[in-house]
Amino acid sequence: IAAPVIAIDGPSASGKGTVAQRVAETLGFHFLDSGALYRLTALAALRAGVALDDETGVAAVAATLPAEFPGDRILLAGDDVTEAIRAEEIGVGASKVAALPAVRTALLERQRAYRRLPGLVADGRDMGSVVFPEAPVKVFLTASAEARAERRHKQLIGKGMPANMRPLLQDILQELRERDARDAARSVAPLKQEEDAELVDTTPLGIDEAVAAVLDIVRRKL
Ligand code: C5P
Repeated sequence: IAAPVIAIDGPSASGKGTVAQRVAETLGFHFLDSGALYRLTALAALRAGVALDDETGVAAVAATLPAEFPGDRILLAGDDVTEAIRAEEIGVGASKVAALPAVRTALLERQRAYRRLPGLVADGRDMGSVVFPEAPVKVFLTASAEARAERRHKQLIGKGMPANMRPLLQDILQELRERDARDAARSVAPLKQEEDAELVDTTPLGIDEAVAAVLDIVRRKL
């Protein structure tokens, strides 16, 4: 029997990553953070001196990505890059390489290999549309741009980033909107809610409530 997939797609800073991880833990399922693969590809390309708009070059990097995921760490060629790939500039780089069709193709099988029993929670932008179109559970998790910008801002404060280094809330909002627009406008695997995906709007929800909302959908569908 094929392992069930719970596809969770949505824009950045929607709380998707945390919610998807908590849902996977609760169900005892495997977890795929597909955004990390795009972030790793951007970082590996930068380190190899490959321009982020060199489609063939970046696709070759993606196809041979020396990434490992021991426990909750992320290694690139043995180097711990768990924190490094979360940098804003790597997020921007990820969204650039993610717009290249050959790069998406190069990462496809690697993502599908995560589908193993007892099941998989897959977090990304195109989990329900491209990577696992036959997923029995599809969730589109989002929040207003303002709520997402505020969460990201609080996150930076929580991390202890000093005020003089912290981007302004309005700049975070602007950057989020630009990234959303780029993710939604690209010709391959644009970010959008699939017809068979259930919408969870986390604007008024805390993390626990968002996790509960997704688990409700899972119980109904699986
Ligand atoms: O989710 P995260 O912010 O880590 O993703 C980084 C970038 O990778 C996104 O802005 C998006 O452009 C890209 N991405 C994608 N498809 C996915 C996951 C991420 O295009 N399945």
